Amino acid sequence: MARCKSVVILTGAGISAESGIRTFRAADGLWEDHTIEDVATPEGFLRNPDLVHRFYNARRQQLGEVQPNAAHYALAEFEQKFTGEYLLVTQNVDDLHERAGSQKLIHMHGELLKARCKRCGSVSAWCGSMDGASRCPLCSAVGSLRPHIVWFHEMPLELDRIYNALSRCDLFISIGTSGNVYPAAGFFQEASAAGARTVELNLEPGQHASIFDHFENGPATSLVPAYLKTLL
Ligand code: NAD
Ligand code: APR
Repeated sequence: MARCKSVVILTGAGISAESGIRTFRAADGLWEDHTIEDVATPEGFLRNPDLVHRFYNARRQQLGEVQPNAAHYALAEFEQKFTGEYLLVTQNVDDLHERAGSQKLIHMHGELLKARCKRCGSVSAWCGSMDGASRCPLCSAVGSLRPHIVWFHEMPLELDRIYNALSRCDLFISIGTSGNVYPAAGFFQEASAAGARTVELNLEPGQHASIFDHFENGPATSLVPAYLKTLL
């Protein structure tokens, strides 16, 4: 394959599955225990903040029990070795990409280990549990913190930077995402319109697998390291 000069990679819950974090839409997925409306919308948070805090506290706590896997490490190593332009966009709110060493990384759906203050608007590091009595580390307001997570009906983060990279890339790789949630699910079409080759690496075909230029079927820990080696 011709050497590529600019790569954008999109990851979803599937890349962290083999680290022990459940995906959203699998039979035993995260959304099976809760409705999206209850735990992943601004309206759900207004209705029952305690439930939403408990949901994200449990997920935040789990991060201490899981480790990056071979797919996360392969991406970090690729970023080090690749001489062209590179951007990793993740829909995941875990911190496994950065713990593996990825640096050129956008968390478009937010981060579990950050808190946002509804009063002063600041975003700060947040490792422990959060509740209605938590105090903003910046403005000291009590009861104004929420998880720094992009919920349904909210705008994903850093879309300008992402679309800019998509418009310039010549290779787009989607890893472990079902392709159900927009705008991320439409990124491959943006890249394709810019002339990029589009590749999906997934355990099972996502919504749009048949219209990617190339699809590979298997677990991320074996597919990702092997595929990235072919690019160097
Ligand atoms: P929606 O209209 O509320 O969400 C879509 C919009 O939400 C997108 O344009 C996106 O900009 C925004 N968004 C921001 N942050 C998001 C985040 N973290 N996760 C998801 N979206 C985010 O929702 P919709 O169109 O009703 O559903 C979007 C997809 O989600 C559907 O295609 C559906 O497959 C899936 N969904 C699944 C379940 C379930 O599994 N039980 C329930 C509802 C929706
Ligand atoms: N290796 C590779 N892919 C895997 C693996 C694995 N070991 N295990 C599961 N997968 C794949 C599944 O085949 C599926 O296509 O991961 C994908 C997970 O899909 P979803 O659970 O829908 O997760 P994702 O696409 O990341 O969800 C997108 O939706 O709920 C919102 O904001 C949330 O960021 C999330 C967004």
